[in-house]
Formats: sequence, structure tokens, C-alpha cells
Amino acid sequence: MKILAIIASPRGMKGNTGRLLEEVLTGVREYGAEEEIISLSAMKVQPCVGCDVCHSTGICSIKDDYEAIKEKLLACDGFILASPNYIFSVTAQMKALFDRCNGLIHCMALEGKYAAMVETSGGGEDEEVISYMNRFANTLGATSVGGVGSPMIGVRLFPDEPVLFEKAHALGRDLCQSIADKREFPDQKLFHDAFRERMSGLVDFMQEYWVFERGYWQKKRNQKV
Ligand SMILES: Cc1cc2nc3c(=O)[nH]c(=O)nc-3n(C[C@H](O)[C@H](O)[C@H](O)COP(=O)(O)O)c2cc1C
Repeated sequence: MKILAIIASPRGMKGNTGRLLEEVLTGVREYGAEEEIISLSAMKVQPCVGCDVCHSTGICSIKDDYEAIKEKLLACDGFILASPNYIFSVTAQMKALFDRCNGLIHCMALEGKYAAMVETSGGGEDEEVISYMNRFANTLGATSVGGVGSPMIGVRLFPDEPVLFEKAHALGRDLCQSIADKREFPDQKLFHDAFRERMSGLVDFMQEYWVFERGYWQKKRNQKV
């Protein structure tokens, strides 16, 4: 079982989000899964330019590290998104990655995979950021097992750390267990069903131009029959 962790703090694993992610990965290791960490601050993922080439060819026109990250997302069983709260949202590094995933979203290319979220803040709104990352994972077709978030009280320190870290370990283990059990989350299944209809309808409407995505959905429909 392969778990890919993507961290979007400019401080990489050395900051608060990295500290909390370490604890989630402890849970992943306890379960016995393999882990890989990608730190976006050490990679180049430029903002989307809106050229729509991904929809017609399946490959992004910008030559940087995005395609390599995409391949890792497609190859993993589960992934973790970790970001500090930057003005009530994810960091620009994470948002650039989200936007570049637009082609994956149109195809709901991560259906069957599971995800977990990690977030830290200066003073709150943790749920707001976690829920945004959950929604992103859902639009990719993935199922979120939840998230862990916390304000910090100093560099790599958190209020009520033992309770928080136990929650983080449990999240890591739960991510792996959910993959093993192919656990179902009825509310997310409803979202997936509605979003699948929306995305396949959109791609049908644009089929003359979005040739790659048309082929992707055709294959997906044939596999389901
Ligand atoms: C540019 C910037 C924007 C921030 N915006 C918020 C915010 O809106 N709300 C909040 O609670 N904390 C905010 N913070 C604080 C960070 O979320 C917090 O320090 C976080 O733990 C940093 O994580 P890191 O060490 O992994 O980078 C912000 C910090 C920076 C540098």
C-alpha cells in the first residue's frame, strides 16, 4: 500500500504543518504502509495558464514538475494533502497544484483512492481549510477519511499536543484501513455520483475539442458495463 503526502508549506517539513504531518505518517507506518513525501516548496509547479491543452491531450503544456506529481498521484493508493492556513485557504503552492489538476478533475481520475488532510494555522479557521481540501479530493473522485488541523502556540508546538498527536496517528491508520476495507462514505458517494454526471456531461458537450477526456470517459463507461 502506497501513501503519497504532499506538503505545501514554504517551510517544507521543517514548519508546523510538517510537524503535524510527521505524526499522521507515524500512523501510516504503524499500519505498515509505504510513504513518500513531496514538498512543493522544493519543486516547480507554476500556475495554470488556462490553455485547455490538458483536456485535449491529457498532458499539461507547462514543462515543470507537475506531470511527475500527477503520475505519483495516479500510482498511489492514498494521499495526504498538508497545508498551512494562508488567509483562510491553502498556500499559493497548493492552489497552483489544485488548478493544474483541472484535467484530472474532469476525468475524476482518482476514483477509488482515499485521502486525508493536515492543516495548521496561527489562530483558527482550521475546519474551513480542511473542508476546502476535502472538497478538492472529492472532485478528483477520491474519498476523504477526514483531516486533522490545529492552531500552533510556538514553532512546532501545539495546544494539547498529546491529544492532537493521537488524533493524527489515528488519521494515518484510518487512511490505510479505509483503503484496505474499500470503506464507503454515503455522503461522499452522493457527491461523487452527482459530480460524475456533471463532469461526463461537460466532457460530452465539449467532445469535439476535449478529445483526450472524451476517450477517457468512453473507456470508463465501457469498464463499468
Ligand atoms: C502569508 C501568511 C498568511 C497566513 N494566514 C493565516 C490565516 O489567515 N489564519 C491563520 O489562522 N493563520 C494564518 N497564518 C499562520 C500560519 O497558518 C501558521 O503559522 C502555520 O502554522 C504555518 O505553517 P508552516 O510552519 O507549516 O508553514 C498565515 C501565515 C502566513 C505566513
